[in-house]
Amino acid sequence: MSSHSPIKTDYNYKVVRQFTVMAVIWGIVGMSVGVLIAAQLIWPALNFDTPWLTYSRLRPLHTNAVIFAFGTSALMATSFYVVQRTCQARLFGGILPAVVFWGWQLVILSAVISLPLGYNTSKEYAELEWPIDILITLVWVVYAVVFFGTIIKRQTSHIYVANWFFGAFILTVAVLHIVNSAAIPLNGMKSYSIYGGAIDAMVQWWYGHNAVGFLLTAGFLGMMYYFVPKQANRPVYSYRLSIVHFWALVSLYIWAGPHHLHYTALPDWTQSVGMVMSLILFAPSWGGMINGIMTLSGAWHKLRYDPILRFLIVSLSFYGMSTFEGPMMAIKSVNALSHYTDWTVGHVHSGALGWVAMVSIGAIYHLIPVLFNQGRMYSVKLINVHFWLATVGTVLYIVAMWISGVMQGLMWRAVNADGTLTYSFVESLQASYPFYFVRFLGGVFFVTGMLLMAYNVFKTISAADHSIKADAEAA
Ligand code: HEM
Ligand code: HEM
Repeated sequence: MSSHSPIKTDYNYKVVRQFTVMAVIWGIVGMSVGVLIAAQLIWPALNFDTPWLTYSRLRPLHTNAVIFAFGTSALMATSFYVVQRTCQARLFGGILPAVVFWGWQLVILSAVISLPLGYNTSKEYAELEWPIDILITLVWVVYAVVFFGTIIKRQTSHIYVANWFFGAFILTVAVLHIVNSAAIPLNGMKSYSIYGGAIDAMVQWWYGHNAVGFLLTAGFLGMMYYFVPKQANRPVYSYRLSIVHFWALVSLYIWAGPHHLHYTALPDWTQSVGMVMSLILFAPSWGGMINGIMTLSGAWHKLRYDPILRFLIVSLSFYGMSTFEGPMMAIKSVNALSHYTDWTVGHVHSGALGWVAMVSIGAIYHLIPVLFNQGRMYSVKLINVHFWLATVGTVLYIVAMWISGVMQGLMWRAVNADGTLTYSFVESLQASYPFYFVRFLGGVFFVTGMLLMAYNVFKTISAADHSIKADAEAA
């Protein structure tokens, strides 16, 4: 199949188009809030003494917007596209795909309103209050029905590996969300978790880590397994490796959560299990990365002139970097240095910007011309500029956080001969300011790239509108 085959009317591309465009818009919103909170860490006055602009309320808004609005919209767009193309079947369920789209936008809107108002369960990445949690569950079940319904009615004999990853992501996120959000409502917008103490922490980080493993990783690997071969116009390097990669990844991730709770009240053996599973996780992670990168065998020259392929391949390099760094940070003695510091934030964004955002951006640039029946994006040059802004932005962000993180860890543990602390906390904070500025700069680079993308997408879509009008007039 060519990468720009014409629209097939029997596929439901409407919902894919809607989610793709919203991914770009929510990306800009979520990342701009990221830039604002990065700025607040340098200039706290930027909260303008307004409760709903305080850091504590905008930080969860940032994480929810980038993960559930930007990332999940990109996943819903690509999973709905890939499942149709690889199963050669229209999306199952009549109006159900539209219910997923509008339902998910309603979830996002509820988050955008309730988080700045201060409603928060206090569970990281599961901050939304119980009525919104119920809405999420309903929409997610419909999403699963549409996705698996399409797999069931497929015209092909086998199920392409990208769908295995998307399927694991959809099923696991459903289970994680329902178990971790179980709560007793106190009133319309306040509830208490049914778990207490160390059990609550354990369930929360079983959820938190597997949100990383199945949403931020498995889902985007599904994206990778379709769009890298497509854009490179080569078959996947090793289909067998992709299957080994899949089963190893899904069976290991689920045990690694306790590495978020080293040196806590959690039983020591659970921390050790978490550490060991994280170390083993390195192998399937790199297996997947190598499988993606080696798909370019015989097509390396395309990197010289195809910025979309560059986005996809560089995202895999960042995936490799963060999945090397993660297992290292899971080692208890390393975690004793990294925990609570900016090193964690650097690790997060090498995965989030370098992997999740870059692979999504590559996939969206591939999708837009196909969805709007155009030969290519309005400007390939602008994609190239975007690529460099995104790469430089990510590198500035993560390098700044590595340096400030290790510096903070070392300053906090430094002791004088008499056993007193060498540095006060405020001294470590003052030493961090230059790095906070570099991170802010990296964020501005990244968002500027996203704005160029929005312009490029807008121009491509309006060209499509013009050609449709011209066709109509000619007819
Ligand atoms: C312009 C781009 C971005 C900027 C400037 C930015 C900035 C920030 C800042 C300042 C924080 C708070 C750090 C702290 O509390 O010390 C943060 C946290 C976070 N961001 Fe971003 N961010 C960006 C993009 C993204 C994207 C695309 C994702 C995910 C796909 C993401 C996921 C997260 C997560 C998960 C956290 C919480 C980290 C933790 O608790 O350790 N960010 N971000
Ligand atoms: C083999 C793979 C990985 C392992 C073993 C791993 C391990 C770790 C460890 C040990 C921490 C620090 C926990 C702490 O001290 O609090 C961490 C934090 C985190 N990692 Fe990873 N990581 C991996 C891959 C990734 C990837 C690919 C992403 C993103 C796309 C990611 C996102 C995060 C986030 C969001 C946090 C911060 C959680 C929080 O405290 O809010 N990780 N990871």
